[in-house]
Amino acid sequence: MSHRYIAGYSFLFLARLLRKVLEPIWRVASLLEQLALIIWTPRDIDRYARTDWNSLPSVQSYSCLDDWLVVTEKTLVETYFTQKGELLNLACGAGREALLLARRGLRVTACDWSPRMIAEAQRRSREANLPVRFEVTDMFNLEYPENVFDYLLLTSKAYSHVFPRWRRVHFLRQAYSALKAGGLFIISFAPASHTPRGLLLQILGGLRRFAPFNKEYEPGDRFAGTFVHFFQQDDLKQEFEEAKFIIKEWLWKQGFAVLAKP
Ligand SMILES: C[S@@+](CC[C@H](N)C(=O)[O-])C[C@H]1O[C@@H](n2cnc3c(N)ncnc32)[C@H](O)[C@@H]1O
Repeated sequence: MSHRYIAGYSFLFLARLLRKVLEPIWRVASLLEQLALIIWTPRDIDRYARTDWNSLPSVQSYSCLDDWLVVTEKTLVETYFTQKGELLNLACGAGREALLLARRGLRVTACDWSPRMIAEAQRRSREANLPVRFEVTDMFNLEYPENVFDYLLLTSKAYSHVFPRWRRVHFLRQAYSALKAGGLFIISFAPASHTPRGLLLQILGGLRRFAPFNKEYEPGDRFAGTFVHFFQQDDLKQEFEEAKFIIKEWLWKQGFAVLAKP
């Protein structure tokens, strides 16, 4: 056996050993992230998320995106946004889809709660010479007049960034009001791959009954890089229907739905 073989084998052995030691530590670290959810109220989560989305690294990573992210997004837009109407792009980030839609001839208003994202989106639209109206707006507090938009668009699973359920329904009602009759809303969300259960869920569910824990914690709320609510199909359908939307297309696995205002 050569020395070179032994040296290489030692590296492999060391790497496996380190992985074995570090894996439980990594699991505990992930658990701690989930515990933040049971301490923070939805407002605390918003505060953290807003600061995080507004950070320079977040803005930089979104400002280099300039194409459709997934084929579903592109197909839905091409299928449903067929007229050159008024469109509101919610949680628009650094303007990726707003610019793509303005290029297709739609009259685009786009909003996001991060001032830095909006400043970057404005810079990009000036550079591309595309007339998009960008605004700093929290999705929870949409103040658009009634019946003004033909289309609404919310991509990148951003519906899952609103907590808890009653605030999502409040958001949907505002969106519904801003849509014209016959208007369409392409919306993206995070679908759960399984029904949440297990010891952690039971602990979190139990703790929410006691102060100072977050009594608005809901099964499906998780930290996955950022705070995300993972939906069960029936719960999500109920939210859409509670806001009076008709579900026109349902792409559960892809995390997209098309909603209509009758
Ligand atoms: C995943 S990024 C998507 C950006 C853009 N739509 C895209 O796909 O390139 C999510 C965006 O949602 C925004 N966002 C999250 N929660 C929001 C809220 N409550 N109101 C407005 N914007 C929000 C963030 O600031 C961020 O720009």
